Amino acid sequence: MKTIIVANWKMNPQTLAEAKRLFASVERGAAVKNIELVICPPFVYCFLFSAFRLLGAQNCFWQKEGAYTGEISPQMLKSVNCRYVIVGHSERRKFLREADEVVNKKIKAALEAGLKVIVCVAGLSQAKESLKGINLSKVKNLIIAYEPIFAVGTGRPCSINRAEKMRILINKQTGGKIPVLYGGSVTSQNADHYVKKAGFQGLLIGGSSIKAKEFLTIVKKLDNKS
Ligand code: PGA
Repeated sequence: MKTIIVANWKMNPQTLAEAKRLFASVERGAAVKNIELVICPPFVYCFLFSAFRLLGAQNCFWQKEGAYTGEISPQMLKSVNCRYVIVGHSERRKFLREADEVVNKKIKAALEAGLKVIVCVAGLSQAKESLKGINLSKVKNLIIAYEPIFAVGTGRPCSINRAEKMRILINKQTGGKIPVLYGGSVTSQNADHYVKKAGFQGLLIGGSSIKAKEFLTIVKKLDNKS
């Protein structure tokens, strides 16, 4: 199985021109064999990159259509060629008070629409609650990202040992077949440790994904070592 690297651009960059530049640099440098490289720009830029094979979004709503001002449905994402969606990111849980119940509805809706869903969890109870009612032994298209709150966007990555322990617990809780990624202050210095030492299937990268050079260094390192 390929190593999965997900670039979560968050609410960056500020302009369309910058987004185009960033995308072009990443795409140009990312001719890799052993990596599934997913890029998740903000919604407004998604359409622009719809020719990219592994496009993702950072969120979705749980309904297909209707009177839900400001929301974007999984079906809309599919129609602009998004194949992936991140659900339950800790920043949404924190700033928008997204609860496990809401995350759960979004996961189900996105799976039903045929998207690959990257579910962010900060620990076992979030994993349990967010995945309620989903048949984990049968489900395809589900990826879990372990993102400890203290490590997301802080420059304080989780220790490899602690991350590995959580990876094992999450694997156990979810039946062992669902890929588990690590996210939280990943850099070119620590990226391969999470995959090679702690056994994660890949990485969810925020800050380092909008620095093209740094991001490509991570991608290349993992591609060579796979
Ligand atoms: P970070 O973000 O790499 O900037 O810590 C990770 C994430 O938000 O998924």
